[in-house]
Amino acid sequence: MANIGSYENHLKNFNWSIAEKELGYLDGDVINIGWYCSDRICQLGKSEKTALIWEGKGDHEVKKFTYNDIRVLSNTIGAYLRGLGIHDGDRVCLFMDKVPELYIGLLGILKIGAIAQPLFSAFGDESLFVRLENAGTRAIITQRKHASKIQKILDRLPNLEYIIVVDDEGKKTLKDKEIVFHLDKAERVEKFDIFPTKAESGSILHYTSGTTGQPKGVKHVHYSLISQYLTAKWVLDLQDDDIYWCTADPGWVTGTSYGIIGAWALGVTQCVLDSGFSAEAWYRFIEKYRVTMWYSAPTAIRSLMKAGDEIVKKFDLSSLRHIASVGEPLNAEAVVWSQRMFGKPFYDTYWQTETGSIMISNFPGMKVKPGSMGLPFPGLTAAILDPDSFEPIYAVNKPGLIAFRHDWPARMRTYWNNEETFQKKFKNGWYLTGDRSTIDKDGYYWFIGRDDDVINTGGHLVSPFEVESALLEHPAVAESAVVSKPDDINMEVVKAFVTLHAGYEANDEMELDIMNFIRKKLSPLAMPQEIEWMDKLPKTRSGKIMRRVLHAKEWGEDIGDISTLEND
Ligand code: WT7
Repeated sequence: MANIGSYENHLKNFNWSIAEKELGYLDGDVINIGWYCSDRICQLGKSEKTALIWEGKGDHEVKKFTYNDIRVLSNTIGAYLRGLGIHDGDRVCLFMDKVPELYIGLLGILKIGAIAQPLFSAFGDESLFVRLENAGTRAIITQRKHASKIQKILDRLPNLEYIIVVDDEGKKTLKDKEIVFHLDKAERVEKFDIFPTKAESGSILHYTSGTTGQPKGVKHVHYSLISQYLTAKWVLDLQDDDIYWCTADPGWVTGTSYGIIGAWALGVTQCVLDSGFSAEAWYRFIEKYRVTMWYSAPTAIRSLMKAGDEIVKKFDLSSLRHIASVGEPLNAEAVVWSQRMFGKPFYDTYWQTETGSIMISNFPGMKVKPGSMGLPFPGLTAAILDPDSFEPIYAVNKPGLIAFRHDWPARMRTYWNNEETFQKKFKNGWYLTGDRSTIDKDGYYWFIGRDDDVINTGGHLVSPFEVESALLEHPAVAESAVVSKPDDINMEVVKAFVTLHAGYEANDEMELDIMNFIRKKLSPLAMPQEIEWMDKLPKTRSGKIMRRVLHAKEWGEDIGDISTLEND
């Protein structure tokens, strides 16, 4: 029996107080996610239950942590940060691979009331810089191998006081602002005064890419727990004896909302694989730890499909009870394939960094419609809006903008230092997701595409603006336009159109030079797969580059109205 019971019944009388009651929270109380994810689980008698099974690059490298370990070690990190003078409201960045310090460190940061800013460890120095600068980050927790990227930008970050290295071997002398902290050598802090955060206290800052301007810091608060807990319970269907594997990196919202908070607030055992993707490694991981609930992403699923059916048969994957997906459109074929290979369909879920928790999904115990994102979570007011009037469209199968009334607990509270852009996300009282979809006769949502130029490559949003800016810093580049092009596995990949300054030659050597130049600035995910040389870029009469025209060309689509195109 699925946790949710009857979806229809919940629709009739839903109230978020269901989650508040289960969590023993009353309006106005102290609410601290760090406490809920560790101390509370211990108080419920699960101190010795395994909270985290972590596997590193080789499968001999395994670490296990009980809920009591998680409780004490997050206290330890919290106490250490507090000792440095870090306090509530300060931003502390986590810039690490998927090591235990990342997961436990996040709780430690939250326990002192500071705001955790997780950033994907593959970010290059420029991507890192804009995010640390915007947040005014005071401390960054990192690994030795990533610290050099911070050194490069340090003199431009006056607010950054500490670079805390968790795995320094003491071989080299420490650089400016670096200090060393070893979680396994630190004195364990059994008792800790957790900062009394309230519902609206800041918790996590996740950066997400938009079409224009720099990445935006999505501010979440401790009250987000209410949505994350209930959606992890009803949509991911997490149950007490589950072994849960969320494949997302906590540098992105799935990795925190469900790779840390949802799972641990429910007292579930979760496992983490800190190594690159391969079909064998993933199936072996499921087999070895008897994973029962698996939350992954379409690009990974398409890569598994490509690896073939024979590999699947080499492993015993019978432990899997429930599987779900997020991040990009999940093709109907992938759902049908998983049904054939694992005996169950991938349940698609739809949400965003900004929403903080799952919004639309296929619910356990209900019929999955392959290719559809499913139904809105109970308690949400969801609609498809007409793009001109921003009024709800009630007609079946008519495309519109996906929008929600902004009233669920995990909604973003603002974009950090950018309230103006935040306000632009609303029309007629609706929060606009920036995505388009239709609704069928049963109320199921069918994704169409984004309503902006943001590129979704392998489930990661890439801002064309950020890539164009990096390209423009190369001395030879005069102009650039970045769009997506189709790809079998990643659905979309990044493609750059470039014009060069006079005196530079467009050739393979130049391409390599430019690629190497931007690689250091961006994340590997944002790297163009191709540069196409242009004599000039399509522009509007006012001189704005028309990405739309280039995009249509790549996708073999009708170019549409180009009456504003410059014509000479
Ligand atoms: C964007 C949000 C929160 C999960 C990680 C991504 C796209 C997300 C789906 C889905 C089609 C999806 C949307 C959305 N997206 N889930 N099930 N089907 N598209 O978070 O980086 O903030 O990206 O990812 O375009 O707006 P994100």
